[in-house]
Amino acid sequence: MALPTAAIEARGLVKRYGDVTAVDQVDLVVAANSIYALLGPNGAGKTTTLNILTTLTLPTAGTAQVAGFDVVKQAADVRRHIGVTFQDIVLDRDLTGRQVLDIHGQLYRLSRAERRQRIADLVALVQLEEAIDRDVKTYSGGMKRRLELARGLMTDPLILFLDEPTQGLDPQNRVGIWDYIRMLNRERGLTVLLTTHYMEEAEALAQRVGIIDNGKMVIEGSPAALSSTIGAELIRVQGIGDYLHFVDRLHSLEFVQRIDIDAPAGIIHIYVDNSNRRLVDVVNAASSNGFRVEDITVARPTLGDAFLHYTGRALRD
Ligand SMILES: Nc1ncnc2c1ncn2[C@@H]1O[C@H](COP(=O)(O)OP(=O)(O)O)[C@@H](O)[C@H]1O
Ligand SMILES: [Mg+2]
Repeated sequence: MALPTAAIEARGLVKRYGDVTAVDQVDLVVAANSIYALLGPNGAGKTTTLNILTTLTLPTAGTAQVAGFDVVKQAADVRRHIGVTFQDIVLDRDLTGRQVLDIHGQLYRLSRAERRQRIADLVALVQLEEAIDRDVKTYSGGMKRRLELARGLMTDPLILFLDEPTQGLDPQNRVGIWDYIRMLNRERGLTVLLTTHYMEEAEALAQRVGIIDNGKMVIEGSPAALSSTIGAELIRVQGIGDYLHFVDRLHSLEFVQRIDIDAPAGIIHIYVDNSNRRLVDVVNAASSNGFRVEDITVARPTLGDAFLHYTGRALRD
């Protein structure tokens, strides 16, 4: 089956739990064959959004189509076209990897032959040949994530939903999972919607990123576009003393485009026209206003800086 141009299309999604609005008027369009990342801190509403799109949770308001089917009225059709991996790994530890995949295939009524074929294919794909007949309880975190990925693919989905696919993994294993996700997208044309609170993950994988905070979609776009909307170049300053006078002074300098303050980390982000050229002026402004610079770096804005700018908070692990 070919997907409609928009593999996923949601309008005005709302989910309320009592007084908590977990998802607040979210609009979302994910193009077929693309990778989209929902980026936000814990409690932002990522899992709830995913649960609505994968038919596990009913929305309080709004509509969504996945693979062209309505998530409420055509939930069974939606399920037939998607694969899902969950944030909290739900692998049964007393089963072997092969049993986990086989049971999942049975759940979806695949024949024995189909299951055998697909397991062989997926085990090779995620490189679990050696471990597949061992109990899952002997697996490392990275191996469990790979098995989860294979499980999500057992039904040969058109659209894969990944909730925090690398949470808790070390950087090396994280990059490994990224490679699988990219390959699935490139070689099998899979559409991927993933959630993450790692900005590097969104930056590395996604063609489009939606920043979500307090249930609201704050802004979306390509990682490069999101980073560059906030300014050309960036000077980050960390230091000691009262920074209010220093920041006031910065605001009066004509080359300063904007300032974001990451208060908990004590880092001031100064967006300027040319960071190398303005470095000295920034240091001078600090010292003449009683702020002692301890660390100063010049950088191009990242998705993390965009996050701070649009939400007023830094994203941290
Ligand atoms: N079943 C539920 N009942 C009550 N509140 C919930 C439920 N699920 C999620 N929430 C609340 O909704 C908000 C969003 O949660 P969630 O979607 O899990 O965020 P994220 O995945 O971005 O961390 C949080 O405030 C959370 O406590
Ligand atoms: Mg979550």
